[in-house]
Amino acid sequence: MGIRLAQAQGRPAMHDENINHSFLDGVLTGEHADVYYHFGVASDDPVLEEFRDVRAIILAGSGDRIDDFARRWSAQHDGAAIVALPKEERFVTRYCAGVLFASHGMGMPSASIAVQELMRMVFFLKGGDPGAMSEVFWARVGTSGGVGLPGGTVVVSTQGVMADLKPYRLLQGGSGEYWFDSTFPRSVADAIEAASRGSGIPIELGRTVAGNEFFLEQFRLDGAICMETPESKMEWLEWINAEGVRNIEMEGAMLAGYLNHWGFPSFAMICTTLLNRLEGDQVTASHDELDSFSERSGDVLFNYLTATLG
Ligand code: URA
Repeated sequence: MGIRLAQAQGRPAMHDENINHSFLDGVLTGEHADVYYHFGVASDDPVLEEFRDVRAIILAGSGDRIDDFARRWSAQHDGAAIVALPKEERFVTRYCAGVLFASHGMGMPSASIAVQELMRMVFFLKGGDPGAMSEVFWARVGTSGGVGLPGGTVVVSTQGVMADLKPYRLLQGGSGEYWFDSTFPRSVADAIEAASRGSGIPIELGRTVAGNEFFLEQFRLDGAICMETPESKMEWLEWINAEGVRNIEMEGAMLAGYLNHWGFPSFAMICTTLLNRLEGDQVTASHDELDSFSERSGDVLFNYLTATLG
């Protein structure tokens, strides 16, 4: 189906002009395979046939979390088979009942590799059909530092920004920067919140800072290297708080920037806060508390997936 047909049917079209057709079209015609190197699979591997019906891509930092999510989704779908890609050196991948679960490691450099290879995989799996690609839902589920929120609050992001509150960008060599629109679709964030209303889980919507570093770009005073004073740290935290930032993590601005670039209409980020950064830097919650905090973002994701995919 072409872009015009998708538009005529009221479905948002992808930004076809931003898709790297010079490389990707040859994968569809069989001129060459696409090697998703970090996932240890290529487009001509028969295992990918099992992923064709993918309707959602769920990302998380840790491989163990991905394995747990896939088992939970399988249990919810009469024990549906879980397909695992054998390479787990970089990212852990599981496919089960229409959902591809994949880890992305920590930080935007690592997660950008996972996201770019998965975007290429979606292009291949959906035969380059913009209508079919636009129906794939993406979400990152993770942990974060809260801004003015206690540990255990789930934040659904409305916009990913960098530490200067500007959108995601990368160096374009010495000649400037590539800028990306790193907003998250508000209607999806609202629907995620609605799917967990009444669950008792504290949920907030707001902007999210994606730091390139856990310590320096998050204004911590407990790193091996510290460039801030207690005063400059609080000045930054109070500024971002006043500007509507509710949490700080390390991937969201890139995730939203890349998915918007191709025009995916449906994606989200759901992160539990582990601490309130206005009160400290170190994560001091107990193991059990951290488990229960993390469980909440998983519950919010599953409530939404169940409401939308069944
Ligand atoms: N992840 C982050 O990036 N920052 C925090 O403070 C907690 C989790």
